[in-house]
Parts: sequence; C-alpha cells; structure tokens
Amino acid sequence: MLFIAPFRRRCVPRNPIKKFMSTSKESGTPLHLLPSAAGAASYALSEKLADEQASRGVSMSTILSHAGLPMSHDGKHNQPLSPPINLATTYERPPDGHYADDGWVYSRESNPTRKLLEDVMGQLETTISTQVVDTSPTSNDDSCKHADGYAFSSGMAAIASLLLAHKSPVNVLIPTDVYHGLPTQFAKALSDHGVLHKSVNMTNCDALKDSIEKVMSTDNGRGGSIVVWMETPSNPLCQVTDIKRVCDMVDEIRQSTGGSLRITTAVDSTWAPPFISQPLKLGADVVVHSGTKYLGGHSDVLLGIVCTSPFTSQGKWLSERVRAVQTSIGSVPSPFECWLTLRGLRTLHLRVERCSKTALELAHFLESHPSVVKCHYPGLRSHSHHDIASKQMKGMTSTNENNLFGGMLSFELESEAMAVAVAGAVRIIRRATSLGGTETLIEHRYSIEPPERRVSPKGLLRVSVGLEDVNDVKEDLEKALQIAAKVVLKDIK
Ligand SMILES: Cc1ncc(COP(=O)(O)O)c(C=O)c1O
Repeated sequence: MLFIAPFRRRCVPRNPIKKFMSTSKESGTPLHLLPSAAGAASYALSEKLADEQASRGVSMSTILSHAGLPMSHDGKHNQPLSPPINLATTYERPPDGHYADDGWVYSRESNPTRKLLEDVMGQLETTISTQVVDTSPTSNDDSCKHADGYAFSSGMAAIASLLLAHKSPVNVLIPTDVYHGLPTQFAKALSDHGVLHKSVNMTNCDALKDSIEKVMSTDNGRGGSIVVWMETPSNPLCQVTDIKRVCDMVDEIRQSTGGSLRITTAVDSTWAPPFISQPLKLGADVVVHSGTKYLGGHSDVLLGIVCTSPFTSQGKWLSERVRAVQTSIGSVPSPFECWLTLRGLRTLHLRVERCSKTALELAHFLESHPSVVKCHYPGLRSHSHHDIASKQMKGMTSTNENNLFGGMLSFELESEAMAVAVAGAVRIIRRATSLGGTETLIEHRYSIEPPERRVSPKGLLRVSVGLEDVNDVKEDLEKALQIAAKVVLKDIK
C-alpha cells in the first residue's frame, strides 16, 4: 500500500546501508559510492533512524503540513506527493474468492481517501507537540495512543450518528448557548427516536451536577444513557466550558455508581480545532467537529468528524459503536470531500494562528467602540471565562507561549436595526452564515435562528474572522458602524 497513515513506522533491515556497499576484493576496504547508491543508502539508513525519531514524535504543525501525504518512499517509483482521490465504490476480489486483508471491499464501509483523513484526525486529537511541555494526566504511557477518527457527510450527520451509537433512551444535556442546529435536530428528527434533551448552564458545574443527578433518578436515566454535551466556545455567545472540570465531575459520578452508568462527555470543538484545543486530552470521551468549518477551511466542503478517546473506557466502548452506525447508516462523506478536507488541514495551523491574532485585535477595537454594547471573545481579559479559555485554548505553537482563542467573536449593538445596518454596510466582510473560511463573515444570528429556538440577542452580530489584512477588516467595520449610526439614528448629513 503506497499511501500510509502519516508518521507510521516502517520495517527496515537491521543494517540497511550494507547492501549498497561494495568492497575491494584485494583489501576488503569500501569503494567510493556512486551518488545514486549514496542516495539510496542514506535513505535506507534514515528510514532506520526514523524509528527513533518516531518515538520522539513531531510537532502538530508538521503533522498538519503533511496531512494525507505518503510519509515514505517505496524506493523505486516516482511517487505522487498529493494522495489520489479514490473514487471506486467496489473492489474486485482475488481469484481465490476471498477478499484480501487490506480491508477495502465497498466504499460505504471503508475508503482509502476517507481512511487517510480519519487517521490524521485521530492523530491530531491526541498528539503531543514535541516542543510543548505536556501536563495532561495522559502524557506518559498513553502519549502514543491515537484516537479513532470517523468521517461523516456533515457535522450534523456526525452528531446524529454519535447519539445513535448510544443505548436509548439517550438523555442529552446541552448548553443553553449552543448552535441552534442541535436543538433543531432533536425537535425535527431525533426526539421521536428516544433522544431527549434538556438545556443546562454548562459553565456552572454545580448546576450541571444537579441536572445529571436528576436524570439519573429517572427510569430513562437508569435504563438508557446520558450524554453531557459541551460546545466550547459556544455559538454565538463565546461562552467557555471548563472541559477538564466537567469531565472530572462526571468521572466522580461514574465511580459513585460503580461504573454501571453509561454516561458520555462529548465536546463539539468546531470553534476550537486541534491546533487550538484537544478535548480528549482534558478527559472528554469524544470530540466532534463540523469539518465544514476550520478543518476544510475554504467554505467549499461539507463534512463532519467524530473522534473517540483511547484514554477512557467510555471512549473505547463508543468507538466500535460509532463505526457501526457510520457504515450501516451510510452517513459517510464522498472521497472528494475527504480529499479537500485533507488539503485544508495542511494549512490549519497557519489559518487558526492568523485568524486568532486578527480576532483578538478586532475584539479590542470593538470592545472600546462607543456604539458597541458588549463584545464576546474569550481572548479578552474582560471575558468572564478568560482564565478557563487560557488553560484549554493552548495553541500548539512551537513555543506554546501564546494562547490561540480562535477566529470567532460576536458583539452586541443597541438594536436589531443597528445590527442589520452594520451588516448591510460592510464592503470587505461578507454577509453569510457558516464560519472558518478564508474570508471574514458577518451574520445577524437572531434572524437565522428558528423563532422557537432563538438563543441570540436581537442586536448581536457574529463574526467569523478570516485571513485578510487586519487593518482592512477593522476599517470596514469602523465605516460600517459609522454608516449604520447615520442611517439608524437618522443622522444623514
Ligand atoms: C458548532 C457547530 N456544530 C455543528 C455544526 C453543524 O455542522 P454542518 O453544517 O457541517 O452539519 C455547526 C454548523 O454551523 C456548528 O457551528
């Protein structure tokens, strides 16, 4: 198999250089190597040494830059550097009638391009950046374990599949501030199939504990499963849930029941992709992404990811069940979407570093602007969860000195009219839903949320910060705020 998961070790001979050496018959001393033989010999030796390097690991930037690329050469052929998009839906058996052990049979069940993406995602959720001092409880023996990654046709398909992997009735505790698509999925699809939900203030651990205990005391809680759903930062108010604190609390509850309770800690980390945050290393059982956003990164892919933890027993239990739902329901992405997501991943670190820096600057600007009532961004010191965000939105940069708080922020204006007017006046920023692309987007959330499940204040605008020059975006916002004030306050001169 030419295309292998990145940084997987290869078996190499014990003394790889020997076969390239020729010796003088008389003296037995080595002769000069031809350049081509030298290249081949040093490649073979580097493969051998790569074993040692692999045990030290490489930084996340390097894993990302090579996402999906073959990590070693077969030594014989000119090899394509970008992986192929493997479109085959079916695979021909060998003449003996048995499918070979390489796993490919039918692409709903497994596909080489999808597998490349799933392997990289599993690696990203658990890898340790070599330059970063890792203080997580899993940093020693477990450091080389990778999560199991599963790709889906959208973020919502990933979420639904994860919930269906649980034993019903499934009692989901969701944050009060959450992507509105989640309660919509419950209302329109899953509530008729044994998935119940309740909104809880996820940033208040005591309130959450009370809610869990209440569910546990019901027949549904005892007979089915409980899922504690975190979305952090949350959509659209940028609230930050303390993942480690919640997971530790849930662990205590588990232990108090002797492990008989099926309870999952799940994190939708769409707003904080792997280069910013790694929820599984903070104790979560499972992490979910809308790959449509930062992972794809160019507003042209629809895809979802689920990664189950190799560190928790609930994560391990879920892994096989998620895979069973994924392949039996067939909620899988096309190979092309997987390929585009792999391509997006190769620049994820650069994109999230850039948009985090720009977002912080814009947040400072908005916070001090006279027309802005409130700016929500976890990187602001004034944000009520700034300390927690600083702990868990690390930024896997080579020095780990800088936090990365992501590219999402929201701000509130005095009225709905003012908010819509600001969105109407921007020239560089685009008026569109979604997030995580190269272009800065602005959205009046209140008018897109279903009336019965609104979470956004009327005057709120959400911004997905892109990769433009920060001064251009700031100026665009400044002008839009001025124009909106003139229009709404009837101050047109
Ligand atoms: C936080 C969050 N989770 C999940 C989703 C759903 O993802 P998708 O649109 O890929 O189904 C979204 C979409 O906006 C989101 O913002």
